[in-house]
Amino acid sequence: MPLKQLELAISDLTRAFRVDPATLAVSESGAVLSPSIRLADLGSHAFCAEHRLRYPYVGGAMANGIASVEFVEAMSRAGLLGFFGAAGLDPDTVEAAIDRLKRSLPDATYGFNLIHSPNEPRLEAAVADLFIRRGIKLVEASAYLGLTLPIVRYRVHGIHQDSTGRIITPNRVMAKVSRVEVASKFFAPPPADMLRQLVQAGDITAGQAELAGRIPMAQDVTAEADSAGHTDNRPAITLLPTLLALRNRFQEQYDWPEPLRVGAAGGMSTPASAAAAFTMGAAYIVTGSVNQACVESGSSDIVRQMLAEAEQADTIMAPAADMFEMGVKVQVLKRGTMFAMRAAKLYDLYRSYDGLNKIPAADREMLEKTVFRATLDDIWIQTVAFFKQRDPAQIERAEKDAKHKMALVFRWYLGQSSRWANKGDVTRKIDYQVWCGPAMGAFNEWTRGTFLERPENRRVEAVALNILNGAAKLVRTAALRFQGVKLPVGFPDSSVVRGP
Ligand SMILES: Cc1cc2nc3c(=O)[nH]c(=O)nc-3n(C[C@H](O)[C@H](O)[C@H](O)COP(=O)(O)O)c2cc1C
Repeated sequence: MPLKQLELAISDLTRAFRVDPATLAVSESGAVLSPSIRLADLGSHAFCAEHRLRYPYVGGAMANGIASVEFVEAMSRAGLLGFFGAAGLDPDTVEAAIDRLKRSLPDATYGFNLIHSPNEPRLEAAVADLFIRRGIKLVEASAYLGLTLPIVRYRVHGIHQDSTGRIITPNRVMAKVSRVEVASKFFAPPPADMLRQLVQAGDITAGQAELAGRIPMAQDVTAEADSAGHTDNRPAITLLPTLLALRNRFQEQYDWPEPLRVGAAGGMSTPASAAAAFTMGAAYIVTGSVNQACVESGSSDIVRQMLAEAEQADTIMAPAADMFEMGVKVQVLKRGTMFAMRAAKLYDLYRSYDGLNKIPAADREMLEKTVFRATLDDIWIQTVAFFKQRDPAQIERAEKDAKHKMALVFRWYLGQSSRWANKGDVTRKIDYQVWCGPAMGAFNEWTRGTFLERPENRRVEAVALNILNGAAKLVRTAALRFQGVKLPVGFPDSSVVRGP
């Protein structure tokens, strides 16, 4: 529906925004125009319609079930889209989440994370298979550097034509990317060679492969700017326009019947950031950091309190557990934890030495005493037990390759540090790995002095609707400013209203 233009008399304006008429000036023509904005109008109607949502607002996946089933349920019941945090979990745990959500949300839209795992390709394939087998119709695809067979297989599974000849794709992919070259792969059809491999493997028919050549890999691509966790630290204000321009080029080239959409993630935690993204043309916004701080997240109360105290500059990049050897980093909370420093030390040692037995005695002693609180030999025994279940090939490789063994042992710390945080293990508070972006500090600043300041009041619905409500007010007042209306400093106010 096109936006309705409203001519606002000064009295309407003052009532709507509760400002003193004396502080308002009218433009020279004596009238001001400001579009009436429903929250659903901020983003793309097609996005909300396709995913059956009330609002163009997505809660991104958060690994290890931090984006919990409770989080997905709360999002869904509020007309928002939530992705379960499947990364880092074994397929059985993910399947238990599927069971629960199929029961609790039999007819609602929600999704699961399908994360690229270059170190564990079999796990990525197993999770994609699970989603296909259990009829999960929407995934948030993330950390992809290029397309893989599992994600392509997921996307094209069940593709067919309806009686009018329209191509139907039961499985949808929302791809989260921070690079043009990766976005380009998702805006385009699945690669022909991969489709051929799927035909040869008997996963799809030749007819389906032909249809698959006529669809984009993803209808929705999220531009992930500086965010929690894996991030290229790109500024949203530059990344979003770049991906929107790219989208325009791909839309023109392929002329997709349903135009491609771009969403914005990274730093979306205040009305101002959301208003900026929507005004630039984002079809939807994706939040992360603020959701971990909410009561529904699978994190602990201790972490929620730490997050509530975070300021803008309290984040830092630290080595990532899943791509440690490649030097990939994730953004984490700095305040109140030594995780980032200790993980950086582990990475330095990994780069400097070819095996655990080459580490100087003083360093080894420090690691065993303060970081691992156990001997490296004990940690290796635990590591073997873990990978025997998950991926025995890792152990075989480590037995022959001392550097790989060192990586697996060091990754024990990187993996446990996130679990200690989620469990709220007080004995390990100093080692908590808490994925967090600057969005958190911005949110805390915005909500200071309001009911959303307190961690126990932070519910995903109240957070989301306050962000959207504030964004609508800001967009509306911006329209007034651009018409010469002089508004008082700080107008509109912080916009936090108590939720239901
Ligand atoms: C605790 C936490 C864990 C995350 N884990 C994942 C993940 O497993 N997969 C993923 O695609 N994104 C993950 N993210 C990123 C979010 O889905 C989202 O894209 C991002 O946090 C948005 O940026 P923001 O933190 O600035 O709001 C995680 C974010 C947080 C806060």
